Amino acid sequence: MLYKVVAIDGPAGAGKSTIAKLLADRIHYTYVDSGAMYRALTLAVLDSGVDLQDKSRIIEISNNVDIDFKDKSIYLNSRLVDKQIREERINKSVSFVSAIPEVRKNIVNLQRKISMGKNVVMDGRDVGTVIFPEAFIKFFITASLEERAARRCIELEGSGYAVDLHDIKCQIEKRDYIDSNREISPLKMAQDAILIDTSGKSIDEVLDDVLEYIRLRGGYTDVL
Ligand code: DC
Repeated sequence: MLYKVVAIDGPAGAGKSTIAKLLADRIHYTYVDSGAMYRALTLAVLDSGVDLQDKSRIIEISNNVDIDFKDKSIYLNSRLVDKQIREERINKSVSFVSAIPEVRKNIVNLQRKISMGKNVVMDGRDVGTVIFPEAFIKFFITASLEERAARRCIELEGSGYAVDLHDIKCQIEKRDYIDSNREISPLKMAQDAILIDTSGKSIDEVLDDVLEYIRLRGGYTDVL
């Protein structure tokens, strides 16, 4: 059987993971959060006290790290780390770790391995361009910086954090800049991706659009 990949890429806070999770449930695919894997590796780096400038130590950690998903949770060296990977210290450091070419090679191998033998919806920055260039269908989901920052504030406030909209906006802008300008596999839209701007749209509207594109592509008529 030929397994299918739905690739969903885009900048931070555009709503990719919300849409990817709902879509995966709807079409009975496995959801893989590729960014969570870079986050887990960043947690391993920070926990071991390694300086973010020390690329060779970071590469060494990435050579030996064990990152896996079980029941929609992520495990770092067999430790459940769903919460820890969302901490601010990870948000601030993950773009540096994920910009190292050797690190990316290791994580991309892992991302392909984890997806083997499954139909997957994967979200990230380079799913359609690098991890799965032959994906069945590719989406590039984006939204204005203002809207992405506002959504992130609501999300953080909902989790009990005190936040400042301006700070969040600067942080997202900085992460986008690093992700889009790194030498290896920068965030960019695949030539054959479908662009969806979620500014001013509800989650249901975006999900309906995505499902319609998939239906038009001739996939999943049995489940839609
Ligand atoms: O999707 P996210 O915000 O959880 O991703 C965290 C970081 O990981 C993001 O700033 C860049 C990096 N990333 C990447 O380089 N490639 C991916 N496929 C996914 C994430």
